[in-house]
Amino acid sequence: MGNSWATFGRDLHLDLTGPGGLRAALLRALRDAVRSGRLAPGTRLPSSRSLAADLGIARNTVADAYAELVAEGWLSARQGSGTRVAARVLPRTTPAARRTPGGPAGHADRPRFDLTPGTPDVSAFPRTAWLAAARRALTAAPSEAFGYGTPSGRAELRTVLADYLARARGVRADPDRIVICAGFMQGLALLSRALGTGRLAVESYGLDFHRAVIARAGLGTVPLTVDERGARTEELAALDGVRAALLTPAHQFPTGVPLHPDRRAAAVNWARSTGGFILEDDYDGEFRYDRQPVGALQGLDADHVVYLGTASKSLAPALRLSWMVLPDRLVDPVLALKGTGEWQSGTLDQLTLAEFLSSGAYDSHLRGMRLRYRRRRDQLVAALADRAPHVHVSGIAAGLHAVLELPSGTEQSIVQGARWQGLALEGLSRFHDPAAPPASRDALVVAYGTPPDHSFTHALDALLRALPPGEPGE
Ligand SMILES: Cc1ncc(COP(=O)(O)O)c(C=O)c1O
Repeated sequence: MGNSWATFGRDLHLDLTGPGGLRAALLRALRDAVRSGRLAPGTRLPSSRSLAADLGIARNTVADAYAELVAEGWLSARQGSGTRVAARVLPRTTPAARRTPGGPAGHADRPRFDLTPGTPDVSAFPRTAWLAAARRALTAAPSEAFGYGTPSGRAELRTVLADYLARARGVRADPDRIVICAGFMQGLALLSRALGTGRLAVESYGLDFHRAVIARAGLGTVPLTVDERGARTEELAALDGVRAALLTPAHQFPTGVPLHPDRRAAAVNWARSTGGFILEDDYDGEFRYDRQPVGALQGLDADHVVYLGTASKSLAPALRLSWMVLPDRLVDPVLALKGTGEWQSGTLDQLTLAEFLSSGAYDSHLRGMRLRYRRRRDQLVAALADRAPHVHVSGIAAGLHAVLELPSGTEQSIVQGARWQGLALEGLSRFHDPAAPPASRDALVVAYGTPPDHSFTHALDALLRALPPGEPGE
């Protein structure tokens, strides 16, 4: 065992005890020293030869550790200026923690660039058009609109939504089967409670807080494997006690693949033959770039598919407005649950959205956003082709995020290294359901929709710097 003191201008205690051998201990000790600020950004580290001599360990062990920490973004190495602690831009709160419901972080925790999925470009919220719609809606609202709302939501909104969803998403909707909610999460919670007992099938990649909402309602979840054709819905037939399946058919979250037509048919056939339900999460179905949008699955069978849409991607999560189109037999149970003390969405925002839709402002906002996101997607794909051709990108036909494949075993260190450089990224494994068979896919879920326009190019540059270098000749 070596010493635990190194001297390079200032004394530094590096604790080389602990599991995993000297190299692992040195990595841990250096990361700790940087993380805690004992090694400040810009500090020049001793040469591998002199640190090895100070610590009484092999020079190669130090050189290897330095190289790994450079790859992870903790250190930087430049010809002529030696190895230094990398410029620190980002405090260390994970974006996932920030976004977990109930946990907004303060300004101090903001990364410089954010490519994590969850929010659209909120800087593009159509403030002027929304204000104009709000003014018109308020002026026209009858006095009774200022009282307590109803569990189903305002008729004005349900009526225009029925038309819009039929036209734009192929949904079979009538206003009486639409229930307005304060976000997809509330809809999912209500549906889970309405189903009562049994299990709900989920995709093996998805959001942990959606699984938690289902569990809180007293239902078990069972994962359906996701592959390059979406969720393997044919697995449903072999599962016992499953009452419903939660799917993202238009653009699987987060792998980005559309549900294959055979799998769409298998899902609907399963629901028909068992009396079960498909819960269709159409969170970003309006954003498709190269072809016409894939129509909603609900269009195939309005008696067995619940359609769930949200304003969180198309406008802003802050609105807390979403909608469910229910099969007839779910309407009364859901309204009964929602009536007994569930929170209702604000009536004035509902009326504003109704006005926004009926005036055509929603369509024109979506047209503008589609162009903006498509431009970014093309920029991302072109930059990768140019500067990181060894990185395969998928899931780009639709939505606001893409998936970048990584060499096996590198996901965590790349996410961590990027974070250190001020770039918030999310790895694919974070979305993997721990109850599903282990998946060995290392990848990044890159939400090119998240940053504001003015910083997108810089965020993209930061992403390219964070990616692993290609092998020579790749
Ligand atoms: C997979 C998925 N489903 C649903 C939603 C919408 O959630 P909410 O309406 O609760 O904001 C999101 C986020 O926008 C999402 O990523």
